[in-house]
Amino acid sequence: MSKALAGVRILDMTHVQAGPAASQILAWMGADVIKLEPPTGDITRSQLRDIPDVDSLYFTMLNCNKRSITVNMKSEEGKATFIELLKASDILMENFGPGVLDRFGFSWEEVHKLNPRLIMASVKGFGSSGPYADFKAYENVAQAMGGAMATTGFNDGPPSVTGAQIGDTGTGMHFTIGILGALYHRTHSGEGQYVEVAMQDAVFNLCRVKMRDHQRLQHGPLIEFSVPTEGLTDVPRGGNDSGGGQLGNALKCKGGGINDYLYVVVQEAIWPALANLVGGEKLAHDPRFAKIGDRRANQKAMWRILNEFASHHTKRELMAIFNEIDVPCGPVLGTEDLANDEHLRAREMYVEMDHKKRGKHFTVGMPIKLSASPAVITPAPLLGEHTDEVLKEVLGYTDEQIAAKRAAGAFGKV
Ligand SMILES: CC(C)(COP(=O)(O)OP(=O)(O)OC[C@H]1O[C@@H](n2cnc3c(N)ncnc32)[C@H](O)[C@@H]1OP(=O)(O)O)[C@@H](O)C(=O)NCCC(=O)NCCS
Repeated sequence: MSKALAGVRILDMTHVQAGPAASQILAWMGADVIKLEPPTGDITRSQLRDIPDVDSLYFTMLNCNKRSITVNMKSEEGKATFIELLKASDILMENFGPGVLDRFGFSWEEVHKLNPRLIMASVKGFGSSGPYADFKAYENVAQAMGGAMATTGFNDGPPSVTGAQIGDTGTGMHFTIGILGALYHRTHSGEGQYVEVAMQDAVFNLCRVKMRDHQRLQHGPLIEFSVPTEGLTDVPRGGNDSGGGQLGNALKCKGGGINDYLYVVVQEAIWPALANLVGGEKLAHDPRFAKIGDRRANQKAMWRILNEFASHHTKRELMAIFNEIDVPCGPVLGTEDLANDEHLRAREMYVEMDHKKRGKHFTVGMPIKLSASPAVITPAPLLGEHTDEVLKEVLGYTDEQIAAKRAAGAFGKV
């Protein structure tokens, strides 16, 4: 087994979620990710802390398999060390607010001059061009401005954010793809390039089908929606509609808990078997539901019948019953369900860590499985844990040089 990105060194100045989610994936693929932090550390080390003086789960679940060094970029000695690290790296990653790296004196042009082979990669809220270029952004800002909020939730309620972190981690995954593309390009050209991903662009990309629907509105109503769409100029919120060519909905199951639902897609091909199971011959031959167009037109009645059937079964029982006849469906799994889900555990998607200070905790595993290069997940580093190690190994510093630089403020408090 060999690591897919063995030999690739990443100088990782990312913080919070969008950048770290990306560099964590690259670390899981085997890159040597050196997380370069301000002396005060990535702010998420202390955000949402559940144990006093211990790095938060926010941090430890996004920074596995990395080494941490602290460099004070506001000191001349710190900047000098940074330049040396830059020259010894393949990729520089950052997701600071607009202009931060320029203010340090390291624009892309400058970085490219210092190391022409280096790939520099930035996440910004809105990119470096266009009217919003100077704005900062967080997850929900990106969801609001990328189309997700307006299309999520129910039409009689306010816009909603989705729980999936599409603005942060979603952007991070786009970021990872851009970096890997640039890395591949460099193997042929020998040249580094600048990779930029804007959070608004990434969320907008994930909302691509909503812009499909937006243009369809010009030619008539959106028949797949369970609410009227005639004459609308905005695509309505999706509710629990399937959003594709098939009908879908969340059925309320036995138990009555807030997550006791099973999402079901009433695929065209499975209707005869499903109708037979739920209502026998009578339902299977009911003309109100004969073809998909009939079921669409009478979907309220169809959902009433399916919900009545669902009320006699738990979501897990119903999943088993429906899977017997090949109905695409899935129980709504809450976080407690997910933490105990045997399938996710079997796929090493929820794995136990043993962190130096926190001890045992779980993290979400590597969602991309490479057959020859499986990820081996190790815990997140303590702040500055590897400063001396990296300076010696990567830059060849001696203990004396490190001490002198430290005394000059290269790695210390801002
Ligand atoms: C996330 C965000 C809103 C946070 O804003 P913020 O906390 O004000 O942080 P910024 O990135 O703007 O600034 C970081 C500061 O730390 C300082 N800093 C960072 N690394 C440093 C280091 N190694 N040494 C010294 N100072 C350092 C910077 O100089 C900057 O200070 P300045 O404003 O005095 O120049 C902002 O970084 C952002 O918009 N990023 C791009 C989009 C993004 O990734 N959003 C979040 C996704 S989870």
